[in-house]
Parts: sequence; C-alpha cells; structure tokens
Amino acid sequence: MSRRTPAYRHSHGLLMPADFPVGSMASALTYEPSPDDVFVTTYPKCGTTWMQNILWLLAHGGQPLAAGKTLDEVFPHIELSGGPYVAAMPRPRLIKTHLPLAMTPWSDEAKYVYVARNPFDCAVSFFHHTRGFAQHYDFVDGTFDDYFECFVDGQVDFGDYFEHLLTWHERSASPNVLFLTYEGMKADTPAAIREVGRFLGDQFAAAAADPDVLAAVLEHSSLRRMKEDQSRWASERHRDAPAFIRKGVVGDWTSLFTPDQAQRLLERCDRAFEGTALGDLWPDIIEKARALARS
Ligand code: A3P
Repeated sequence: MSRRTPAYRHSHGLLMPADFPVGSMASALTYEPSPDDVFVTTYPKCGTTWMQNILWLLAHGGQPLAAGKTLDEVFPHIELSGGPYVAAMPRPRLIKTHLPLAMTPWSDEAKYVYVARNPFDCAVSFFHHTRGFAQHYDFVDGTFDDYFECFVDGQVDFGDYFEHLLTWHERSASPNVLFLTYEGMKADTPAAIREVGRFLGDQFAAAAADPDVLAAVLEHSSLRRMKEDQSRWASERHRDAPAFIRKGVVGDWTSLFTPDQAQRLLERCDRAFEGTALGDLWPDIIEKARALARS
C-alpha cells in the first residue's frame, strides 16, 4: 500500500515546508550574526515557541507581546523571513532557526539557546503540526503511521532529528551555546529561566533575577496563557487538527506509537546515542519505549 508523504520542497540540500520562500532560505544562509544576536536553535516541535516567548518576556521586563503583534514579526524565523529582514531589526536581535548546525549562521560572539526534546514526543508533536498546516504540507489526511516512516528515516522538513541533536549537543561545549531540554523546562521552569538569564547576561540576567519580573515571565509563558490567542504564535490551522499549542506535556507519544514503531525509533536512539551522554537525557522515556517494544 502506498504511503502518503507531506508536500516538502528541496532547498539547499534540506527538505523544507513546501511554501517556504527559497530566496529567504538562501539569504538566511549568508546572514552574518552580530555579537549581541541571540538565537533560539531547535529541531521543530522541541519547545521553540515556549523558549522564544520566555526570551521575549525577559527582554521586555515581563511585558507580553502587544495585542495584534505576532511573535514572528519581532522574533523572526530566519529561514522564513530571510536575512535582510533580520538584519534590519533593532539590536539585540532575537532570531529563531531550525537549521542544522552546519547551516546555522555562526559567530563565536553571538549566543545560541538550544532546546532538545525526546524523539518520541517530538515525532508525535511534529505529526500533529504537519497535518494541521495544510498550506505548508498538504497532509491533512495523513496518518501517524505515514508520518512515522518519514520521521524515522530523517525525511522530514529541516532534516534528521538525530543529526540535529547530535551536532548541536557536541557544539554545546562552546561557551556561547546553552543546551536545555523541554523535559527539564517542564520539571523546573523557574530554574530554566534563571539559567537562560545567567547565560545571556545583561538585561536578561537582571530580569531573571528580579522576582517580580520572573513571576510575570512565568505567568505569560505558562501553557495556560500561551493557549490563549494562538494567532500570536502560528498561522491558521486546519479545522480538523489540534491547535498549535496542543498538549504541552511529556509522554503523549504513548497515545500513538505501536510496539514496532517504538522498537524502530529505539534502534535509531541506540545507534545515535552510543558513546555520547545523550542516553542520560531521557532515561524514563527510553525505558518506557523498551517496555512497549517488548509488549
Ligand atoms: P505538543 O504538540 O506535544 O503539545 P515548537 O514551538 O518547537 O513548535 O514546539 C511545540 C510544542 O511545545 C507543542 O508540544 C506545544 O504544545 C509545546 N508548548 C508550547 N508552549 C508551551 C508551554 N508554555 N509549556 C509547555 N509546552 C509548550
């Protein structure tokens, strides 16, 4: 039986959402970061928007985005908005990218906040994302079984999950890279915000150290508040798909994975994580996946 695949476009050696402008991607790749640029670098569905909102709030004394504004306008996704749009922004610039490390505009002075998420929840979240953005992917009727085959083979937009994670994890030894996990952010959000503040320094550090500002950042970046008025974060979703800020939990992957799929993604984890510290990031998830694979 033939499987459905999302409608991707090939661009500069990567699969990309079909309607991302090729010219924006090209200009993103040649963008030269300023020393005070702050990048949120993530594989898709790993907590990008949550971290972006936290950084925006820290940079603005805990004040949320003004009504009618979208996060994309003020914290652009460089491979969507393009290099010139980003270069024209006031400094310090806040920039989002999902590009693999080798394609990310790099400067030893700029700062990079990386958020990783376990591959099981990432796959399920990316499936719901893909079927919901009909204009990007034309995959409204696609099933998780269809999508899983693309994900486990690394044939999805922005490339292979494992390559993204491994290369950025290696690069996290650099003093200008902060490597956090979605699960760690969920477990202790105030600690994660303080860590980001210390890492970024300047007004970010001062904001995270101020109890009133920290309380405002926590409130406005909470799952409950971010579920309100989602047009701030994402373009229109298909009526049959869940909202962009969907469940926001750890462990939802068990709702869709079969034992065979758990086994196959575990095999990729085992190969990718060997000889690295990555196996220690999500011991409970990996253990649960092994139990499902055995069942
Ligand atoms: P789910 O689809 O599992 O619910 P990204 O911004 O990288 O696309 O990541 C989206 C994922 O982060 C979604 O996961 C979304 O619900 C979750 N998320 C967004 N804001 C969040 C918040 N404030 N707290 C917890 N999870 C959040």
